[in-house]
Amino acid sequence: MEEKNIALAGLLFDFALVTKALHWTVRGNDALPLHEQLDELFDDLISYADRLFEDAFANDDNVSFDASLKSPANLISTEEVITFLKSTLARVIEVTEQEGVDKGRRGTANIVDDVAEGLTNWLYLFKLYDTP
Ligand SMILES: [Fe+2]
Repeated sequence: MEEKNIALAGLLFDFALVTKALHWTVRGNDALPLHEQLDELFDDLISYADRLFEDAFANDDNVSFDASLKSPANLISTEEVITFLKSTLARVIEVTEQEGVDKGRRGTANIVDDVAEGLTNWLYLFKLYDTP
């Protein structure tokens, strides 16, 4: 059952890499604050992925994953980047909450809960760009 946690960890790692790319490519209105937030989001995502992969290592789970996020290298305007971030955050939150990530182990459950909470806070923050 641990495969679901590994899939989540892989998704978070993919998302982190794309986020770092967007940190470098974003241009336009509000590009500077978004550029900085993208780096903070990258750090959080890498940390979440690391906690899950470390948990898998500690529990001797098999680890393999495929990259599943397409890199939106063509997304460079702040509006496009924010739209991508909101939809991806919503998707990953759904994975953590609704697709039945295995939370059978207490330590793993705590990590998954932290990830869901952190991602929800990020989604709230990016939604603030919508309000004029
Ligand atoms: Fe940088």
